[in-house]
Amino acid sequence: MRCALISVLLLAAASQAQAADPEAGKRKAEVCGACHGLNGISVSAEIPNLAGQKAKYLTLQLEAFKGGSRKNALMNAIAAQLDDADIANLAAFFSGLPGAGGGTATSEMPAKVATTRVRFPDSYKTTFTAYTKINFPKKKQVRTYYANEIALAAARAGKPMPHGAVFFVEVYKTKLDAEKKPVMGDDGFLVADKLAAYTAMEMQPGWGRDIPEILRNGDWNYAVFTPDRALKPGVNQAKCFACHKPLTDTSYVFSLKQLQDKARMKN
Ligand code: HEC
Ligand code: HEC
Repeated sequence: MRCALISVLLLAAASQAQAADPEAGKRKAEVCGACHGLNGISVSAEIPNLAGQKAKYLTLQLEAFKGGSRKNALMNAIAAQLDDADIANLAAFFSGLPGAGGGTATSEMPAKVATTRVRFPDSYKTTFTAYTKINFPKKKQVRTYYANEIALAAARAGKPMPHGAVFFVEVYKTKLDAEKKPVMGDDGFLVADKLAAYTAMEMQPGWGRDIPEILRNGDWNYAVFTPDRALKPGVNQAKCFACHKPLTDTSYVFSLKQLQDKARMKN
C-alpha cells in the first residue's frame, strides 16, 4: 500500500518534471524574439528560424549551447541562463508555431531591445582618453578605443564602472597592399585608412530597466554610428547585449584591463 503510494507520487513527480508548458515558454521567449522573431521567424539571414522546428531538436541544441559543446558566443551566453524547465517550455512554444519558407524574415523586433539611448559623443576627441588600439587583420580593420573621464576615474580607482561611463571605438579599414593584404606600420599597428564605423556603450540610470534579464547588462546601452555620426540603422542591440553579458566581473567591458593600465600610467 505504502509502496504503491510512493510510486504513484514518484510517477507524478516525474511526469510533472517532463510536462513542458508552451505558455510559460511564450513568456520566456520575449527575449529570444529580439533575434529569432517573436513569431519564431528570425530577423536576419544568419539567425535560424525556430518556428515549427521539432521540440526534441530545439531541446538538444539549447542543451548543447548551455553545456558548451555547440559554440556560439551569443547563444552560449543566453542558454547558460536557462534551466531544464525553461528549455523544455521554450522548445514546446517554438515547435508549436507555424513555420515559414526560407526567404521570409520578420520585422517584429521587440522595440525595447532594438532601441538604443546612446547618442554620438560630439566632443570625444577632446574629452575622452584613447587607451588602446587593436589590430584585426582578418577583418582588415584597426580600432582605437576611447573612454570618458568617468570611466577613466573608476578604472584608476579599481572600482566598477558607474553611471555616466562611456566607451567609444573608432573602427578603421586598413590600407591594403597590392595583394589586398593589410599594411603593417612601423609601430606594430595596421595602417588606418578610411573610418568604417564607430561603436559605443554608455551607462545611465534606468537604461537597463526595460531590457529582459537574460540580455540586460546592468544599465548599459549599445550603439553603432556611421562615419557621418548618424545612428546606424538595422543594428540589433540584442547581439551586443548577449556577447558582453558574461563579463559581469569587468562591468561588461572586454578591455577594462587595458583601460586600468592606461589610467595608472596617466596617474
Ligand atoms: C542576440 C541574438 C539571439 C538571441 C537573443 C537568441 N538567439 Fe538563439 N541563436 C542566435 C544565433 C546567431 C544562432 C545561430 C548559432 C549558430 O550559428 O550556431 C542561434 C541559434 C539558436 C538555436 C539553434 C537552432 C538551430 O537550427 O540549430 C536555438 C534552438 C536557439 N537559438 C534558441 C534560442 C532561444 C530559446 C532564445 C531565447 C531564450 C534565443 N535563442 C535567443 C541568436 C540569438
Ligand atoms: C561576438 C561578440 C561581440 C558582439 C556581438 C559585440 N561585441 Fe563589443 N566587444 C567584443 C569584444 C571581444 C571586445 C574587445 C575588443 C574588440 O574585440 O573590439 C568588444 C569591445 C567593445 C567595446 C569597447 C569596450 C569593451 O567592452 O572593451 C565597445 C564600445 C563595444 N564592444 C560595442 C559593441 C556594440 C555596439 C555591439 C553591438 C552592435 C557589440 N559590441 C557587439 C565582443 C562583442
